[in-house]
Amino acid sequence: MNINFCSRTILLTLATALVTLAAPGRAEDAVETPAQHDARMGWWRDARFGMFVHWGLYSGLAGTWQGKTVGTSGGMEWLEDYVKADTDTYAKAAIPLFKPKPDFAKDWAALAKTAGCRYVVFTTKHHEGFALHDSKVSTYTAGAVLHRDLVKEIVTALHEQGLRVGFYHSVIDWHHDQYEYNRSQQLPHPLHGQPYPNGTRDHAKYLDYLFGEVNELMSNYGQVDVVWWDYSAQDFQGQEAWHAFDLMKLVRSKQPNIIMNNRLFRTSDAGWTSMSTAGYANHLDTKYGDFVTPEQHIPATGMPGVDWETCMTMNTTWGYSDHDHKWKSSETLIHNLVDVVSKGGNYLLNIGPKGDGTIPAESIQAMHDIGAWMDVNSESIYGTTANPLGAVTWGRITAKPGKLYLHIFDWPADGKLPVPVKTTGAAPTAAFLAGDKYGAITVKSTDTGTELTLPGQAVSPVDTVVVLQGTFVTGK
Ligand code: GLC
Repeated sequence: MNINFCSRTILLTLATALVTLAAPGRAEDAVETPAQHDARMGWWRDARFGMFVHWGLYSGLAGTWQGKTVGTSGGMEWLEDYVKADTDTYAKAAIPLFKPKPDFAKDWAALAKTAGCRYVVFTTKHHEGFALHDSKVSTYTAGAVLHRDLVKEIVTALHEQGLRVGFYHSVIDWHHDQYEYNRSQQLPHPLHGQPYPNGTRDHAKYLDYLFGEVNELMSNYGQVDVVWWDYSAQDFQGQEAWHAFDLMKLVRSKQPNIIMNNRLFRTSDAGWTSMSTAGYANHLDTKYGDFVTPEQHIPATGMPGVDWETCMTMNTTWGYSDHDHKWKSSETLIHNLVDVVSKGGNYLLNIGPKGDGTIPAESIQAMHDIGAWMDVNSESIYGTTANPLGAVTWGRITAKPGKLYLHIFDWPADGKLPVPVKTTGAAPTAAFLAGDKYGAITVKSTDTGTELTLPGQAVSPVDTVVVLQGTFVTGK
């Protein structure tokens, strides 16, 4: 049953009226002041580190289709498109393999907490179109098929761990029979280029369904902190493709303080034109979203003045695959986290649970390794800002007022650590974040800045953090 256009208009009007009367925070169409914007973004900027979760019918297929390996690299959440299966054939094969065990969500939340993540963004619906919640506008859902509201189970587990909640939601939909997949030459669809099986399609009816599911997700699960839209193409985006401004208005009418990414749009003003590194513009008009989403790469100099979040897989696939063993080392993952934060961004690190919800052992180990490092050094991540100095050869720098966190990846053989900053006033001090038992650090001024003399051994073979405190002269 689709919400028809008329009732959607009533819904939007009612929602707007309710917001005007009731909700604190930002009314969906009020002009937000810079101070209000900074306040709304505050927790997200401080969090710096989140866990991404890609989980859906594709997880049970695990990179295999009709007994054959579909691929050993790349996103197996795209399997339906790779094998060009129609949605009924795909669902018939995939649904029997999607069998969430009872407390899967508690394991996800506990792992995110262990790693030091402050928020979790998980797929409520990916491109395949199968939704994890219980819906009144669709039967291609966990509610209808499994008689479980998996979104509720996940949100409950995240809240029990004190984690912020993010919903990834795909506007691309390979299931819905009114989604006009030939409107775009760039967006993927298993049947792309073929005539619509029923002859014609009415994209407006797909949008009614899209709005209906989003309305449910924004209404039925308490506070939602992030919506992570995915994704638009240059030839099909924004208001034309998704009624994007109306969709964002609906979301804000239910969740006035929510943070949304920029992927309902695909223009330079929206901060990106392609997925490649070069495709990311260094500016964002926040009417298109609150942050830019570099994917699988870290912008070389960050994105100064823009809120941005790099999302990244631990191997090469977002959705689980039995065949992808290209796991990044824990050292690489920790260095990526520190590199992103040193450039002023957030790091959204993905896990791809299996069809039963269990997490691959390699992902568990990596998150525990990250957590062990964060247990000692999280002060140099949470609430920090980008390196205010130039790049250094020995590692990275993150900052707080009066403090520079020196992330030493490469320990100097002679114990001398040059820091390109001069200080004024009281003599600066330096200490290991891990504690004084690792030895004393001496600090002296030089012609080019400040030099630390370190004791013999690194505290961490991956990243030893020294906090340098003082009054820094950082004139540009
Ligand atoms: C791309 C992929 C999608 C994935 C997303 C995560 O859009 O198409 O599968 O969910 O990246 O950033």
